[in-house]
Amino acid sequence: MLQRKCRGKSGPGMIRAQFELKPPPYDLKALEPHMSSDTMEYHWGRHHRTYVENLNKQIEGTELDGMALEDIIIATYNKGNLDTVFNNAAQAWNHDFFWESMKPGGGGKPSGELLRLINRDFGSLEGLIKEFKAAAATQYGSGWAWLVYKANRLNVGNAVNPLPKEEDKKLVVVKSPNAVNPLVWDYSPLLTIDIWEHAYYLDFQNRRPDYISTFMENLVSWEAASSRLEKAQARDAEREREEERKKEEEWKSRFKS
Ligand SMILES: [Fe+2]
Repeated sequence: MLQRKCRGKSGPGMIRAQFELKPPPYDLKALEPHMSSDTMEYHWGRHHRTYVENLNKQIEGTELDGMALEDIIIATYNKGNLDTVFNNAAQAWNHDFFWESMKPGGGGKPSGELLRLINRDFGSLEGLIKEFKAAAATQYGSGWAWLVYKANRLNVGNAVNPLPKEEDKKLVVVKSPNAVNPLVWDYSPLLTIDIWEHAYYLDFQNRRPDYISTFMENLVSWEAASSRLEKAQARDAEREREEERKKEEEWKSRFKS
């Protein structure tokens, strides 16, 4: 995730920080021939950089300054106003997540718990890939497609998406327009593909389906997805323990009174 770097003191006792553009976890040429260094230089070096720089300018001196990036995304989304701060914050986060969803020599097959859940929730890896490709191909205009772990009770303020309990704890594929990401629905993203034209136009022109296939077959990092799944399940288990603790405390206080 984006790192903050200290910018020095601003006002009595305040240490202000700004978000820093983090490089992808591999050389900009390392995804060739599947994603060219030209694409990486434009996409990371210009587009991603602009989101981060704009975000830093927009939050300076506001109540958002000093908050974690994820908290800025959720706070601005929940105001019901997808303004430029939300767009830049979410795009900054999404791109970090996208770079880390790929690796040189990617593709292949997932393993372990991730594969078990893929087989359970999509029937097979082929089932997941088919659904993921369809979501990415059919997102109208700019946006993102995601594989997410959904294990929530929707405790993100006034977000409006109803999340039925019977669908908790499963892998799902979702797509989102523009900058929106599944954090705002309290899902745990495992993988994403950027389907803005700037992600693929230099290499594939208007052939978005070819770009999506290349991503799934040659770039995707199942190791990253597995690691994210492990963290998501740990987070979910901790939430459940916390809910149980709260329930117990409530019962105890009722019994006492
Ligand atoms: Fe992008």
